[in-house]
Amino acid sequence: MSLLVEAESLHFTYAQSLPWQKQAAEPSWIIDGVSLAVEAGTTLGVVGESGSGKSTLVRLLCGLLAPGKGEIRFGGRGTGEWLERDAREFRRRNQMVFQSPASSFDPRMSIFRSLQEPARAIERRVPSRQEVTGWLERVGLGPEVLDRYPHQLSGGQLQRLAVARALSLGPKLLYADEPTSALDVSVQAKVLNLLMDLGLTLVLVTHDLAVVGRICETMIVMKSGKIVETGATADVLANPRTDYTRKLIEAADATSLF
Ligand SMILES: Nc1ncnc2c1ncn2[C@@H]1O[C@H](COP(=O)(O)OP(=O)(O)OP(=O)(O)O)[C@@H](O)[C@H]1O
Ligand SMILES: [Mg+2]
Repeated sequence: MSLLVEAESLHFTYAQSLPWQKQAAEPSWIIDGVSLAVEAGTTLGVVGESGSGKSTLVRLLCGLLAPGKGEIRFGGRGTGEWLERDAREFRRRNQMVFQSPASSFDPRMSIFRSLQEPARAIERRVPSRQEVTGWLERVGLGPEVLDRYPHQLSGGQLQRLAVARALSLGPKLLYADEPTSALDVSVQAKVLNLLMDLGLTLVLVTHDLAVVGRICETMIVMKSGKIVETGATADVLANPRTDYTRKLIEAADATSLF
């Protein structure tokens, strides 16, 4: 077993006090003592009510935010050190797909230009049309989308393009924050199947417990910035230990589309 990501006692708050303001002795934490580990090659599901801190946690894990307290290690090395010494390599290995496909793309850039962006920024090179077309094949799209602009594509096509772009540099780990919530059911299934088939390490934030049951080996349940339940997905779903998780499962059963 090799752990790709480990987080220990993470704390984070968005409130930044100004230097001349007195620092509160203990701020109210948005992420409040979260510890977790993700084994290489597995999928971790992150669930919990709206506002419980799922997106914030993901932004911390992939280095877009810095924790107030606690430590994150990627491949055994602290993310602070990664970002100081090898930021580009860290970015190359950690990629993200966000909830809203439309806002993941610059409206003024063609799809071709948008897909070239990570290679330009991180590897300082300009990938050819042929190379980019190859990335599209993985997500089931043809080269005709390359000269279009984001507003000329559907949400499902854009989300698949966001996945193609995230995969373009061969990441070790993909963070997907509700990647399908803006999509209709048939397209949801396509994007999920795509994520499942990647064989990558995946951290998936979702409201949909049926999806967690299908594709995540382990899961965490968040509430008010804390992990209230964690373990093998089958165990958590079969024997929830908290009322909170039980309610999430009941709500999912009522609305499940699977
Ligand atoms: N940029 C920000 N500045 C200040 N507060 C924020 C910011 N982003 C999120 N928050 C607050 O942090 C808390 C956690 O938000 P977060 O977006 O992580 O929740 P979430 O679990 O992803 O919710 P959802 O399921 O609705 O996406 C919320 O109370 C939210 O209002
Ligand atoms: Mg969120």
